[in-house]
Amino acid sequence: MSTPSHKRKLALFGAGGIAKVHIQGMLAHADKVECVALCDLSDANLALRAEQLGTHTDTAPALYHDWNTLLAEQSDLDAVIVALPHQLHAPAILAAAGAGKHILCEKPMCTTLAEADVILDAVARSGVTYMSAHNQLFTPVVREAKRMLDGGMIGRLRWLRTQDCFVSGAESMHGTWRGSVASQGGGELIDTGYHPSYLLLYLAGAPVAEVRGSMSRFHMNIEGEDTAGVQVRFQNGVLGEILTSWAMELPYGTHQIHLVGEKGELFGSGTELFYLPAGFTEPARYLLPTIASTFTEEIGHFADCLLTGERPLHGAEEGRAVLELILKASENASGWQASAPKQQLLEASR
Ligand SMILES: NC(=O)c1ccc[n+]([C@@H]2O[C@H](COP(=O)([O-])OP(=O)(O)OC[C@H]3O[C@@H](n4cnc5c(N)ncnc54)[C@H](O)[C@@H]3O)[C@@H](O)[C@H]2O)c1
Repeated sequence: MSTPSHKRKLALFGAGGIAKVHIQGMLAHADKVECVALCDLSDANLALRAEQLGTHTDTAPALYHDWNTLLAEQSDLDAVIVALPHQLHAPAILAAAGAGKHILCEKPMCTTLAEADVILDAVARSGVTYMSAHNQLFTPVVREAKRMLDGGMIGRLRWLRTQDCFVSGAESMHGTWRGSVASQGGGELIDTGYHPSYLLLYLAGAPVAEVRGSMSRFHMNIEGEDTAGVQVRFQNGVLGEILTSWAMELPYGTHQIHLVGEKGELFGSGTELFYLPAGFTEPARYLLPTIASTFTEEIGHFADCLLTGERPLHGAEEGRAVLELILKASENASGWQASAPKQQLLEASR
């Protein structure tokens, strides 16, 4: 099998859990991209991902423990995918941008606004494409609701809610980088909570004016919160809220997204969308076409941006805006640890 001249060469920084779906995405778009190198401290994870790639590519990927060595040796590399623990995102992005490589980075872009500003500057100076790996933008219900909203189906937006909730294993993150605020950059909100945060900004369609956050920890053995609520007022007057948790499922009867406008409502999850025009009591239900996965769509979009020079749906600016929202909400909620019942804290840190 010969390599088409337009095919872009990618490397993956981080061969852990999420790397699996990035590789699936690259394999699904093998006509456009090829994974030529992997970097991870763990030999076991490198071997696992090389095996996943192995049967599908002509040449085995080059394996590295250090991304600077990879960047120095893989001189014909086009782009990198960053899938590392959160505190390593900024140094990895800066190394890649410094080497002139395009970047797709997992959420969050980084853990502080000071880092975000350095990244924006480095990306602008190097002229590389930076895409925020906001995979839920590619969820069918999100795409279709955005299309209907922009098409005026519910008139001017007034209120919206985005949610991402599930019950995680209480011990699953204890002792890992996710269990520590220093390496995670926070708790649940800066991790899973990133998804409903960028969805809220995307659908509200205006910059944030005001943010309030509230947090608690019910279930997880981690330093940070496992549940967060955020209320936002946008500059266009729209009101928004986020619920995100590792300690509860989506509240019964509620949805991944819910939008209320002057002429009706749009709500749903995954591939299921409901449309309730104002004055009607029963919503219409649409089952949208399924997709392979939001990650595969995301990699396809990144590949197209590399091939055409098109700006990604969410670049570095959107990555910074999401981080700012999350950090403001976390700061606003910062009293939660001190005011939580003693027993709850004792139980949570057992
Ligand atoms: N979009 C989503 O739905 C989603 C889901 C899960 C994770 N993620 C994101 O993906 C990223 C990684 O998460 P994960 O769940 O794969 O974590 P993970 O712990 O499974 O994998 C991280 C990998 O990084 C490696 N690593 C650590 N330090 C390193 C270093 N200095 N150099 C090279 N490799 C190093 C580890 O050995 C590990 O293999 C995070 O940003 C996370 O938020 C996104």
